[in-house]
Amino acid sequence: MATAPRAQYTAPAQLGHWLVVLLIVAAYAVAWTMVDLKLSPTKLKLFNYHKWIGVTVFALAALRLAWRLGHRPPPLPAGMAAWERQAAEIAHRLLYLLMFAVPLSGWLMSSAKGFQTVYLGLLPIPDALGKNAALGQALTEVHEALTWLLLALVALHAAAALKHHFVDRDDVLRRMLPQWRRRS
Ligand code: HEM
Repeated sequence: MATAPRAQYTAPAQLGHWLVVLLIVAAYAVAWTMVDLKLSPTKLKLFNYHKWIGVTVFALAALRLAWRLGHRPPPLPAGMAAWERQAAEIAHRLLYLLMFAVPLSGWLMSSAKGFQTVYLGLLPIPDALGKNAALGQALTEVHEALTWLLLALVALHAAAALKHHFVDRDDVLRRMLPQWRRRS
């Protein structure tokens, strides 16, 4: 008996996707906690955790992109309108871009402010820029703007996934979940 064509993302693609989701949630949670704290060892520790999460997201985004360039995603449901397919494609490209741009802007900002990133407290990452307070301030604004853009896009992306699942009742969300087999 012939097997049905693969209709879900591969396990590595799913793992990469959900790991990044968890890390991004953690990055926002840590960021919003640390910014309101007075200067203290706890604040500095949280800054480090935030930076380590960002470096990990960047590395996972690179692995995901490498994986994605060698693997086609499963086909979208036949009934999806052309504009919806285009919107999904643009959103996914932008999400990939922001998975790189947000950590990158954080690293540049940190460099310009004179705080080197030492990944996991073990691996020093060279500063990209010399210390420059004005540039550091400008890059803080860039980093913040990009994080808001990412948040808005993720909200839209998650809402679209839920709409597919609960309103259109198709398999778009299920194919990003483990152990799913094509309906009927
Ligand atoms: C709760 C939040 C999220 C849900 C429910 C969700 C759900 C999904 C689903 C169902 C797909 C497959 C769409 C398709 O079949 O075309 C997908 C793909 C994707 N998601 Fe998410 N996602 C979430 C958060 C995120 C986050 C935080 C990011 C990154 C910042 C992200 C980036 C992507 C990318 C880049 C793809 C395309 C994967 C590819 O084809 O290579 N998602 N997501």
